[in-house]
Amino acid sequence: MLIDTHVHLNADQFAEDAEETIERAREAGVEKMVVVGFDTKTINLAMDLVEKHEDLYAAVGWHPVDAVDCDDEKLAWIEELAGHPKVVAIGETGLDYHWDKSPADVQKDIFRKQLHLARRVQLPIIIHDREAHEDIVEVLQEENAGDIGGIMHCFQGDQKMAEACLDMNFYISFGGPVTFKNAKLPKEVAVTIPDDRLLVETDAPFLAPHPYRGKRNEPAYVKLVAEQLAELRGVSYETLAGQTTANAEALFQFDRR
Ligand code: NI
Repeated sequence: MLIDTHVHLNADQFAEDAEETIERAREAGVEKMVVVGFDTKTINLAMDLVEKHEDLYAAVGWHPVDAVDCDDEKLAWIEELAGHPKVVAIGETGLDYHWDKSPADVQKDIFRKQLHLARRVQLPIIIHDREAHEDIVEVLQEENAGDIGGIMHCFQGDQKMAEACLDMNFYISFGGPVTFKNAKLPKEVAVTIPDDRLLVETDAPFLAPHPYRGKRNEPAYVKLVAEQLAELRGVSYETLAGQTTANAEALFQFDRR
């Protein structure tokens, strides 16, 4: 059994067939999925989905690309939702320097506020990092994020960054890119992550694993990520699935409330 720790079943790409997609994931052995909402619309849709399906859980936060659209009222709403029994994490948040909709200082401010929020509600945080490796680590260290903990989602940093994040109690999650033929760095880093810090995800509908690269991703494909990690780490698929599932259970404590 597997847990997809990061999926956007609330994305427009699943508007027509979310139910069938969830069913295919179950058939592929995915026992739980964390649906990530990152703005008003996707948070509302995530909450609808987790109300409807026992095996779905939600993460709620504000995406760095849209940081300029966030304000105290929205953060207060996220904090209120954090009390819902099926909300298991805050995020995704972080920094994204690929797009220039939100200036870096605004992104950092909204990121820090969500770290404070996660600390207050005592939930782990899910970090999105695109082209912002050094600043992410700097903010996490300055905010003592080690006692919040959480996930470096779809990790694409180097060994040094992985070590800094592991030192702060973070889990390292791999998605589709680790299966890409030319993905030398994530493959190298994936081998070095301790057994008890490794997670798998899809980030569907984005970043589909090989051989579906470029197509719509879906949670059933988390199996392809797990198979690739098992091969790289020289363990059986069953071992890898068991380790990552136990790690997700330990972090999210799905049934604590
Ligand atoms: Ni995502």
